[in-house]
Amino acid sequence: MKVREMRIPVIALAICILACAVSPSNSNDAPLRKEAYEGGEIHDITHSFTPNTPAGTYPNGIGKFLTLLRSMKNGSDFNFSELKLPLHAGTHVDAPGHYYDNYFDQGFDVDSLDLRVLNGPALLVDVPRDKNITAQVVKSLHIPKGVKRVLFRTLNTDRRLMYKKEFDSSFVGFTEDGAQWLVDNTDVKLVGTDYLSVGAFDYATTAHLVFLKSKEIILVEGLKLDDVQAGIYSVHCLPLRLVGSEGSPIRCILM
Ligand SMILES: *[C@@H]1O[C@H](CO)[C@@H](O)[C@H](O)[C@H]1NC(C)=O
Ligand SMILES: *[C@@H]1O[C@H](CO)[C@@H](O)[C@H](O)[C@H]1NC(C)=O
Ligand SMILES: *[C@@H]1O[C@H](CO)[C@@H](O)[C@H](O)[C@H]1NC(C)=O
Repeated sequence: MKVREMRIPVIALAICILACAVSPSNSNDAPLRKEAYEGGEIHDITHSFTPNTPAGTYPNGIGKFLTLLRSMKNGSDFNFSELKLPLHAGTHVDAPGHYYDNYFDQGFDVDSLDLRVLNGPALLVDVPRDKNITAQVVKSLHIPKGVKRVLFRTLNTDRRLMYKKEFDSSFVGFTEDGAQWLVDNTDVKLVGTDYLSVGAFDYATTAHLVFLKSKEIILVEGLKLDDVQAGIYSVHCLPLRLVGSEGSPIRCILM
């Protein structure tokens, strides 16, 4: 039976050799960039920033947003970069001051957003793909009372609009009456969508005005909702504490 006992260690060693050859083993390897983690318990629903990241008024993406001020290639002891970023690009959050000048003046900036709204149980729902998010569409989703956070996955995800650097005004979003229906008939306080504006292009202003009026609803836009199943999750979103800013990049995960 000696031979049989030997087999397992030999197989284990063979697997180890294969695994060691493909897994990163030293600091010269490229870093791993994950969208989901072991067992699928964390889904990163944030788009990464690149020069091709789309933004509302930018025809060709945000362009160069990092500047290396000090570089090891130039004899510095360290690398040190500066960030210049449009705040309503990629996955981002809107504060009430984005569409209300009086709220802006009163200081309702991203640093005033309630982290309890941005973190907690959330519903990821699929919106019918043939319409914008009208009152009728919102009604048809049957969002239960008590649900405070909803992420709306739309045709924008299927069309991979967030991966296109050109701003595309044909994206799907809320109409004014869709926004109003949600405000009047549900308890939703966190509204997440999968392109740069919660309001469809023709309703961008009116839908934002409806949502932001009470200062109680937080809008997260440009979420990466590919490859996640619809259902109930725990969402965790953290904006930067930018005092005086009406928007911020935001990191969001689903667990
Ligand atoms: C430092 O910056 C250089 C570019 O000058 C880059 O090639 C290098 O990867 C950077 N090093 C680190 C540790 O980030
Ligand atoms: C490195 O130094 C050269 C010459 O001063 C300069 O032109 C270049 O911009 C520097 N690059 C970085 C990344 O600091
Ligand atoms: C949604 O509305 C925009 C204009 O605001 C339009 O371009 C787009 O085609 C509409 N999408 C659908 C699916 O109806």
